[in-house]
Amino acid sequence: MYDFLTTSPWPDYELIDSGNFQKLERFGPYLLARPEPQAIWDPHLPPTEWERADAAFVRAPGSTEKGQWRLKPAMPEQWVIGYERPDGLRLKFRLGLSSFKHVGLFPEQDPNWQFIYNQTRKRRAALPGRTQPRVLNLFAYTGAATLAARAAGADVTHLDSVKQVNFWARDNMEASRLDGVRWLVEDAMKYVRREVKRGSKYQGLILDPPAYGRGPNGEKWQLEDELNELLKLSQQLLDPADHFFVVNLYSLGFSALILDNLTTAIFPGPTAVRELGEIYLHDAGQRKLPLGTFCRFAN
Ligand SMILES: C[S@@+](CC[C@H](N)C(=O)[O-])C[C@H]1O[C@@H](n2cnc3c(N)ncnc32)[C@H](O)[C@@H]1O
Repeated sequence: MYDFLTTSPWPDYELIDSGNFQKLERFGPYLLARPEPQAIWDPHLPPTEWERADAAFVRAPGSTEKGQWRLKPAMPEQWVIGYERPDGLRLKFRLGLSSFKHVGLFPEQDPNWQFIYNQTRKRRAALPGRTQPRVLNLFAYTGAATLAARAAGADVTHLDSVKQVNFWARDNMEASRLDGVRWLVEDAMKYVRREVKRGSKYQGLILDPPAYGRGPNGEKWQLEDELNELLKLSQQLLDPADHFFVVNLYSLGFSALILDNLTTAIFPGPTAVRELGEIYLHDAGQRKLPLGTFCRFAN
């Protein structure tokens, strides 16, 4: 019925432990302890192991989002990690400690990066000469998915509503020795509506919308209110003859059943592959930490 996607540790990332509404991770040489609302079980490792964290995010009193990092003396504000997969995908990511517990990367997205890389590579190989498959990445953040498509030879459009986030993604592109990404600072819904009017078609479409967000001119994005329309518009942007599609949601409590109902109704066509379900990470105690839902397919 449902698929469960997870990732195998890569040299520069590991979920070490989770519990007590926290997670302990290793990003390169540094251990980070951050809040994790779904980790309601007991940690596997003793407090002494958690105290080894080089950086720990402490929530501001009364805030569910903001807070501060408590740093060990040797902990830098920014550092770079590598990401390498046997199928040849090799990227570099600059990480940084943000005031929202984020570090600029969602490691659990690794299985989707690989899907994007392999689906793009397949299409690039099938196209004549220097023709590149067109891929659009919406809510693209620091660009990991963008770079997975670019590394496989796609003509990629990276759209996010925050200019600084796009600069961060550009740094990741340069660190990964890639180039040629089209950067857009726009509201996702506005852009997609315009692209539908233009009759634009893409061979790859990637969506990773937040529960709540704002466009560059304050346009409101509310997942439950706009996802249905965004998926209907997305369907019109897909090249009917040849496409892959990935939608990922990490809004707490948003069941995969919702994505199943929406995508079954909006994307009825036959597919060579269709997977839908939950994304999770394993910790050292073999607990499965749920980190979102997804649907992906390709024809
Ligand atoms: C946390 S990220 C998604 C993660 C990302 N896809 C990844 O895996 O790296 C959500 C992004 O959506 C952007 N965003 C929020 N509202 C938006 C809107 N209305 N239009 C475009 N981007 C928006 C935010 O700036 C943020 O970078």
